Amino acid sequence: MSDQNSGEIPTPGNVSNLDDLTYSELRQLATQYEEVDGSASSEEIKEQLRATGDFADDDPQPVGVKLGSTRTVVVAPDGKGGTNIHRTLTCLATYEDALTGEERVLYGDQAATEYPDRVQYMLRSGLPQDQRSTELAKQFFSAFIASHDLPENSAVVYAIPALENEQGLEHLKDVIESSNIGNALIRSYPESLCASIPAMGDGLRAIDDIFIAINMGSTNLEASAYRRGEQVTRYATGAVTGNEVDRRIASYVQEETQGRVNIDRTTAREYKEQYADFVSFQSFTDVVQQPGGGAHEFTIEDSVMDAMEEYVDSVVDEVANNFLPRVANDHMKTYNTALERPIVLTGGMVAVRGITEEIEKRLSAELQREIDVIGPEDPVSAAAEGAQRIAARLVEQEAY
Ligand SMILES: Nc1ncnc2c1ncn2[C@@H]1O[C@H](COP(=O)(O)OP(=O)(O)OP(=O)(O)O)[C@@H](O)[C@H]1O
Ligand SMILES: [Mg+2]
Repeated sequence: MSDQNSGEIPTPGNVSNLDDLTYSELRQLATQYEEVDGSASSEEIKEQLRATGDFADDDPQPVGVKLGSTRTVVVAPDGKGGTNIHRTLTCLATYEDALTGEERVLYGDQAATEYPDRVQYMLRSGLPQDQRSTELAKQFFSAFIASHDLPENSAVVYAIPALENEQGLEHLKDVIESSNIGNALIRSYPESLCASIPAMGDGLRAIDDIFIAINMGSTNLEASAYRRGEQVTRYATGAVTGNEVDRRIASYVQEETQGRVNIDRTTAREYKEQYADFVSFQSFTDVVQQPGGGAHEFTIEDSVMDAMEEYVDSVVDEVANNFLPRVANDHMKTYNTALERPIVLTGGMVAVRGITEEIEKRLSAELQREIDVIGPEDPVSAAAEGAQRIAARLVEQEAY
């Protein structure tokens, strides 16, 4: 019962992938080459056939990864010349299978919705801190990879924060390297460099340019000066963050409702992501259940944008008064060149409508010169998109 499924005899001209052939097809093919030993195992035959130069190994697929404290995004080829963007919340919940008693894993948005009481955000502080969060992150990432059928034969570029946390970065590396993807190659690049790539248009211009990038994430504000891909200055503060905006929104909502409404940080984040808007903010209403029964409806006018206004002021203050003086001091030429170019804003907080223009206006006023500020079209996926473009270039250059 050998080789029923193939109508035609395989020849060097009609085989696109040796891995698709059965053992007997491989043998038929091998007989067409005198130097190939037809009695070898299928892996040995494939190896010998590849050595003839007539059959290329399939190129690895370029994949871009961003494992963030709030969301994880992976960009991979869609098989039709474009890419797919997969994104989900970086969290996981386990439950016991009601029939077998086995532990099951749910991850991402589904875990957050169905098990809000038990869901764990293992990268809350930005990077895996210890063995336990590293293990949880591995569990999360392998469930994510399996459900999107991401390719093993791939070149993976992943984005890393510009933090001096060697141990955390080692843990993150461990998570990526122990996963099923990236068999051909795994490399990391700074997150704000990756995210600047789509912000600057097609191709990889950001890698060849001199510019300043400000990354506005959940747990850190990072500022970097880049010179052709090299990070010449970096600066980070944990004081000006998306998470801090969420905390403030929660406390302002309590004030605005005279203590009647207490929202948790997740709800505050959702208010921010849904309603914050520097162009045309509109007040909104929501409903909470009262402890004694019944529902209380309330309207939010100021809480969200008050927290956002303070955030933008702090970003401008950090950049103008802490980061830029440092660049000017250490690398005067880079400073002069970079300020002639647009400053690139990256990170999820850039998704707030109008924030780019707002920072441009306030930064120009603070520095008393015209500053141009740009951001990527889709800030949440930009780092993974840029990482994927780097991976594609590395595959082209056969850097693996
Ligand atoms: N549409 C949106 N509107 C407003 N804020 C958003 C939006 N989408 C994401 N954010 C916010 O962006 C932040 C996440 O940004 P990002 O994904 O860059 O962070 P991260 O890389 O996980 O965090 P960090 O760099 O601090 O480790 C969160 O505070 C999130 O609420
Ligand atoms: Mg980040």
